[in-house]
Amino acid sequence: ADVFTYDPSYTSTAACDSTITFIDGDKGELLHRGYPIDQLASKSHYLEVCYLLLYGELPTAAQLDDFEHRVTHHTMLHEQMQYFFRGFRRDAHPMAIMVGVVGAMAAFYHDSTDIHDSWQREVASIRLIAKMPTIAAWAYKYSVGQPFVYPRNDLTYAENFLHMCFAVPAEEYKVNPILARAMDRIFTLHADHEQNASTSTVRLASSSGANPFACIAAGIACLWGPAHGGANQACLEMLREIGTPDRIPEFLARAKDKDDPFRLMGFGHRVYKNFDPRAKVMKESADEVLDLLGVEDKPVLKVAKELEAAALADDYFVDRKLFPNVDFYSGIILEAMGFPTSMFTPLFAVSRTVGWVSQWKEQLADPQLRIGRPRQLYLGETSRDYVDIENR
Ligand code: CMC
Repeated sequence: ADVFTYDPSYTSTAACDSTITFIDGDKGELLHRGYPIDQLASKSHYLEVCYLLLYGELPTAAQLDDFEHRVTHHTMLHEQMQYFFRGFRRDAHPMAIMVGVVGAMAAFYHDSTDIHDSWQREVASIRLIAKMPTIAAWAYKYSVGQPFVYPRNDLTYAENFLHMCFAVPAEEYKVNPILARAMDRIFTLHADHEQNASTSTVRLASSSGANPFACIAAGIACLWGPAHGGANQACLEMLREIGTPDRIPEFLARAKDKDDPFRLMGFGHRVYKNFDPRAKVMKESADEVLDLLGVEDKPVLKVAKELEAAALADDYFVDRKLFPNVDFYSGIILEAMGFPTSMFTPLFAVSRTVGWVSQWKEQLADPQLRIGRPRQLYLGETSRDYVDIENR
């Protein structure tokens, strides 16, 4: 007989083996290829971490140089893809645009869709990492009705992204190095997180042999949800709804009320039950950015600060180990930088692309790879005879 275990939401099933990322939720530990995330976030930078995730070791100076050169020379999008953007309603959510545009890359870059060819796999990986910031920035520009800004290959990955988002033709735009550093940290801290929902989605999609662009589009779709990548947007929307610090107790009471579906967005994590190691570093950046921009008095940021303090002093949250997660602080930084909330999840997608791609490559190299096929516990009707419509 068929024997299988019942494990709804896969909380105790390892669906693959991996050598990329290790998480110990109780200890608040996150390692990429063995290196702790706080060391990577403070000493390394995003493209170096991308190299580490993709190839397993930190690069030498020459390897990093070559990698950066390859990425920066793939940042342009095929000019025809602009029609694709222009086909969307101007108020389309940038995540909707990203799901569509990334999926459509398979139609523009045929020469990197053959998953059995290692060179094509490599080119697809580089293309995805290189073009994702351009796609996200153009989705933003489209939504605000400004012309697309082409990538600049003399800038770093984070600087170029800020440039493509905030530069306006005929106006001088200089990227502030502190903001670029904070952006780079947001990318680095979100780069990979082992078998989370979107990564598992990418792996399941890829197990059927689907092309890399389709697989990453599936990951973006999954990331969109408010319990996953959509949490940073949901968090800011919640802070706006709270509005003023005097309403915080009312929302804390709602979060504790089991009859109310409301949850404090940006608090809690499925695996980190003591603290989120990414949140610690992100908080430092949030303080730095708020200081630089002098925006602490912005109402929404005031609410954020006071909500953080109130939740950390509340037994309900302390007992359940519900601490601010990385998205709480990244949301604050992005808000201070002037990104609309609809761009928060696209930024997460840009950062996580390297994680998805690394896991996708690892999976394809696995000789045990078979199509993924979860089982189910069937609770419906047993076999019964069809009843003609006039007799129902
Ligand atoms: N506000 C209020 N209560 C909460 C919250 C919250 N944000 N999160 C969990 N709880 C309560 C929950 O009601 C339960 O209470 P009780 O034991 O009395 O029934 C207890 O805490 C355990 O909750 P759970 O649902 O078993 O926890 P989970 O591990 O299934 O959920 C989570 C994890 C992240 C989905 C959840 O904490 C949540 O919905 N947080 C808000 C959304 C959010 O910020 N998500 C981003 C996660 S970080 C980014 C990423 O990795 O994608």
